[in-house]
This record gives sequence, C-alpha cells and structure tokens, in this order.
Amino acid sequence: MRLFLALSGLIFAPLFAQASISQDLLERREWVLENLLANLERGDISPGAVIASPSRQAPNYFLHWIRDSGLVMAALVQELDDPLADVGTRERLERVVRAWVAFESRLQETPNRSGGLGEPRFQVDGRADDSDWGRPQNDGPALRASAMIDFAWREIRAGRKREVLQQLYRAELPARTAIKKDLEYVAHHWREDGFDLWEEVKGHHYFTRAVQRRALLKGAALANELGDPDAARFYTQQAGLISASLEEFHSAARGYAVPTIGQTGGWTHKTSELDVSVILGAIHGAAEPGAHARLHAAPAVQATARELRNAFLKLYPLNQGVLSETASARELRNAFVGLYPVNRAVQSRGGPAAAIGRYPEDVYDGNGFTGGNPWFLATHAYAEWHCRGGEGTAGEQALGLRYLERSVQHQGPHATMSEQFRRGDGFLQGARDLTWSYASFLTAARACLL
Ligand code: NOJ
Ligand code: NOJ
Repeated sequence: MRLFLALSGLIFAPLFAQASISQDLLERREWVLENLLANLERGDISPGAVIASPSRQAPNYFLHWIRDSGLVMAALVQELDDPLADVGTRERLERVVRAWVAFESRLQETPNRSGGLGEPRFQVDGRADDSDWGRPQNDGPALRASAMIDFAWREIRAGRKREVLQQLYRAELPARTAIKKDLEYVAHHWREDGFDLWEEVKGHHYFTRAVQRRALLKGAALANELGDPDAARFYTQQAGLISASLEEFHSAARGYAVPTIGQTGGWTHKTSELDVSVILGAIHGAAEPGAHARLHAAPAVQATARELRNAFLKLYPLNQGVLSETASARELRNAFVGLYPVNRAVQSRGGPAAAIGRYPEDVYDGNGFTGGNPWFLATHAYAEWHCRGGEGTAGEQALGLRYLERSVQHQGPHATMSEQFRRGDGFLQGARDLTWSYASFLTAARACLL
C-alpha cells in the first residue's frame, strides 16, 4: 500500500493528486505519532501520565486530563494493532499504555474535590488538583473505560486473560478493578448533571451521554467474556436507557441536535446551540455499525454538522475561499466525484475544506478571551465523521480528506499542532503540541486512509 502510494505519488503526482495527498498524510502520521509520544515519554512526569500539552504557563496545560488521556490511549491502542507498526514502535506503545493503566488505577483511588471518579484532571505526579475547576466531568470515566476495554480484549487475544482478571475487570462488588470501577460509576451516575467536555456548561450533554453509552455496551461484551453476565445485563439495560435519552437532544424547534439539555450551571453563552461536541459524540459514541446508523447518523446530527459548518464558513476569515462554492454545489460535485471512477484523480480539487472550531460563540483563544478560533481536533472530527460516512452520501471520503488537507495547511514543521489555529491568518494558536490534536489526527487519518 505504502509502496504503491509512494510510486504513484512520484510518477503520477500531477494526475493522481489524491494519491500524493494520501502519501503525504501517511508520512505525517509517523511524525504525529512521534510528536504525541514526546508528551508521554518524559522524565519529568509519572510514568503513565499524559500531559495535555507541554505548555506550563499561558496556558498551563501541564496536567493529566482524564478525557484527553482516554481519547489519546484509545488512539494508541489502535496503533498497537496496526500490522504495519514496527517492533520498536509497538514496544514503546505497549509500555506507555501499560503505564497509563497503572497510573489511572492510582488516580481512581486518589481523594479529590469531585469526591468520585468524575474528577476532570490531576497533577502529573498523580496528586489531586485543588484548583477551582468545572467538576465533575463525567465523560472521563467512560472514555477511560472504553480505551481500557480495547486494551483488555487485546490482552485476552494474546493469552493474558489472567492478568486482565487481576487488574482490569473482575466480577465483584464493590469493584476492585479499573474497568469495573468506571463501568459501575457510569451505570449508576449517567443521569446526573456535570460539566461538558469544554469545561464551561453544567447540565446533561450529548457528548457525555454518547460516550457513556458506548462504554456500557463495550463493557457488557467484556463482562460476558469474563463471567459476569448479571453485570452485562445491567450495563446493556442502562445503555438502552441512554440511547432513548439521546433522542431528547434532537431539537424539533432547532431542526438539529443540540449539545446540552437541562442546563444547571456554568456559562450561558451558546445562543445557537450548535457545537462540534455533537459530532465528537457521534464519532466516539459509535459502539457498533447498526447503532451508529440509527443514533449518531440521525438526520438531526447530520443537520448539526451542516449548520455548524455553515456558521464557521461565515465566521472565520480564513474560510473565505471555501465560500466560493455553495453547500449544494459542493455536495453535488462530491456526489459525482464518488460516483464516476474517472473522477478519482480530481477528488482533491475542492481544496481544503472549512476550518472548524468548537462552537460559533466561542471566545476562548487558548489562553485569554480575544475570540474563538478553529481547533485542530474539531477539524479532524469533521474529517473522521465524513470518512466514516457521517452524511451517508457519495464522496464522503473525498470530503473527509479535504478536512485533513485543511489541518495540514496549518500545521507547523514536522506536523506540529497546537490546540487552535488563528481564524484570520491560520497560524498556530493556544497550547502548543496538544496531545489530543495529535491523537485526533491519527484516528481521522486512519478512518480516511487505512
Ligand atoms: C479552560 C477550558 O479548558 C476551556 O475549555 C475553556 O474554554 C476555558 N478554560 C474557559 O475559561
Ligand atoms: C480545553 C478543552 O476545552 C478541554 O476539552 C480539554 O480537556 C482541555 N483543554 C485540556 O486539553
């Protein structure tokens, strides 16, 4: 595959723009993985800690967020299973994932201001974070469990079921193993309000519910494998209740899915109720193809994707060039690009797709409040969503690749990525080397290319 891409990139570069883009992205994945690992393999943090970014001031992201690290580890477990990964890389990945499992097991037992597993972040040596912060954030335990479950299955396949039973999942209550603790917490607390993934709004969130549901479904399968059928039934039942509750986010008045219902606190600034967290929920909440089609590719979610993109097209000067095509012209073109084999070479003609931020009313510039910007992880989310067929139309893959092109255009040398890129000139902005930016590039490029 790589050889083919390399050759076709050399010989047919002008003809097969698509192939050379793919080749560039594959090379970038290797840089990105190195950039990511540099945030984990460091002497100045506990083994297993995942700094959100090496930035210690303006902003201070030199902390371990449960959400960020859960998503990062899910991406790394995927890499671990990559048949193309060389032995050295695989050993490094195994080391960091195992260290992370041990580190999280410690954090689960560390007293904190949330008073439970919903504590959003810890210090890099594993001590609690005593600062005032939006807490609890209940997506964390779900994302952590999902990543650990992927790892547990890998261990089971490798003949290490005994170790899994020891450390990760054992049928006993109160729970004494890492995954079981998180699943019990999720199954019993998902109805409670908490802060959203952007740490600003308190209430009930699509993203949080979506990842909680997914963790419970994955957990049920693991529980069955490990002799805990009663728990499997309970987790499945709770997941079903969450599925039903997700429909409540489909706003008839708005005509699209909204990020939060039943707000109980925090900022009240999101007048449009459009938020990329819905798309992130659709990606990270997809437990199995059938349910994905039903829930997260629902017309309401597709409408969110469309409306939000249109909002950012208007909002960011950077997106001006992308405006030249109307949405329907673009969609029609993409349909034909997907339909006619002869169009394969022109798939990238559309140029980079829109730069995507968190939500239109965002004012956080990565350190202060001079105005919101596009985020790498949000733009990657659009890439991944389309490459997984989010809108269900032809040409999705090509469109997804164009979001990755957008990201590439704003990356620094060797695919460095901060949290944001500036809405005006496209330069890196906010916390440098954001670990989650790197992880989201890996999973999006995987969905689009591999
Ligand atoms: C830091 C949070 O992580 C970010 O998401 C939020 O927008 C700002 N604080 C708001 O103060
Ligand atoms: C701010 C983001 O809003 C939040 O989602 C993230 O967890 C932290 N930064 C750390 O990256």
